[in-house]
Amino acid sequence: KHGYFTYDPGFMSTAACNSAITYIDGEQGLLYYRGYPIEDLAESCDFLEVSHLLLHGELPDHKQREEFISTISEHTMLHDQMSNVFRGFRRDAHPMAVMIAVVGAMAAFYPDNNNVADPESRKVAAMRLLAKVPTIAAWSYKYNIGQPFMYPKNKLGYAENFMHMMFATPCEEYVPNPILARAFERILILHADHEQNASTSTVRLVGSSGANPFACIAAGIASLWGPSHGGANEATLKMLEEMGDVSRIGEFIKRAKDKSDSFKLMGFGHRVYRNMDPRASIMRKTCHEVLNELGLHDDPMFKLAMELEKIALEDDYFVTRKLYPNVDFYSGIVMRAMGIPNSMFTAIFALARTAGWISQWCEMNADPEQKIGRPRQMYVGSARREFMPLHKR
Ligand code: SDX
Repeated sequence: KHGYFTYDPGFMSTAACNSAITYIDGEQGLLYYRGYPIEDLAESCDFLEVSHLLLHGELPDHKQREEFISTISEHTMLHDQMSNVFRGFRRDAHPMAVMIAVVGAMAAFYPDNNNVADPESRKVAAMRLLAKVPTIAAWSYKYNIGQPFMYPKNKLGYAENFMHMMFATPCEEYVPNPILARAFERILILHADHEQNASTSTVRLVGSSGANPFACIAAGIASLWGPSHGGANEATLKMLEEMGDVSRIGEFIKRAKDKSDSFKLMGFGHRVYRNMDPRASIMRKTCHEVLNELGLHDDPMFKLAMELEKIALEDDYFVTRKLYPNVDFYSGIVMRAMGIPNSMFTAIFALARTAGWISQWCEMNADPEQKIGRPRQMYVGSARREFMPLHKR
């Protein structure tokens, strides 16, 4: 027994840390943030409420919610010279490369957050990140397409403000669609935290040395970019676009099964879930809602994805290995329907996961017992050898 849950001794020996933030049961397909099932949070909260929950351990009451939103609003702008960091890139730079650089640059622009032992400094760093990462992500997109940066409008909600910065121009206002804004808040909630996944473990390992919070989050963004992790949503759409038609599904499934190359069916499988990823079920429902709202229920990409899902879920190879569609299988389809380009899918995943990363970073730095991370290895190299001087080699 460990807290409220029972773990087998084998699991406990592999656990990287104790955390009170997120609980996952991979066999039963459960995901709780601070004890609340993801289904309830995705249904009834907005992203900032969930961010408050992850960061402070409780859902905010009315007063706390207003204070949290007002503090975030104070930090949504970037230091004006940060726009020069974007301009150092070629226009075709991937938004994730730009986000790694600009979030890392925050360590230079906001140097007063270096004292990781100070709770107030940690809180300001958390609020700056929650507030500025949407602006940085949207500006990475604007820079890509050669449009001027759009400043945040603090009277808008979190999702609507991001959509405004992504899609408005000085000539055209972005007209919010409440259904899409709600769906986008849900996408952010579903991606907000996920226990010790690769990118969160990266943030903790980098942070365990006492490193600057913005440098830690830049490292998390770097890890998330990989196609086996957060890059899977972009890779799933790329795979579906390459597949093109249901007649080619068999070819791709065969390729995954033959293992002739390192090809994996993007959007399927998970290190922890041996059941349906609970986020995937919610995302699948959101897919239907958004496509119906936009009159895209006949979207060929969605129909292809549904057919691939059906065939894979009936295929012995996937069934025996308990490979189910994960959250990334559906999230790209929803974001594409919303007009978000593939290149921004992982940037949006990073935007959402910033809430989890910084909550776990704060949790780690609040623990006076925490030590620097130092994973060990199994050495499989040469035995001791006599040195050979150059003239004899
Ligand atoms: C995320 O950790 C997290 O929590 C991550 C995440 C989060 O919120 O932070 O949930 C987000 O990263 C979700 C995963 C997104 N990635 C993808 O969709 C990429 C495709 N998936 C695979 O790369 C893979 O499933 C992983 C990386 C997700 C998991 O890889 P594992 O741990 O190696 O999978 P496994 O041990 O369960 O594999 C068992 C078998 C192996 O074959 P055999 O050796 O038994 O013959 O299943 C095979 C694997 O080769 N397999 C796949 C497959 N995933 C696993 N075969 C084909 N297609 C796949 N997608």
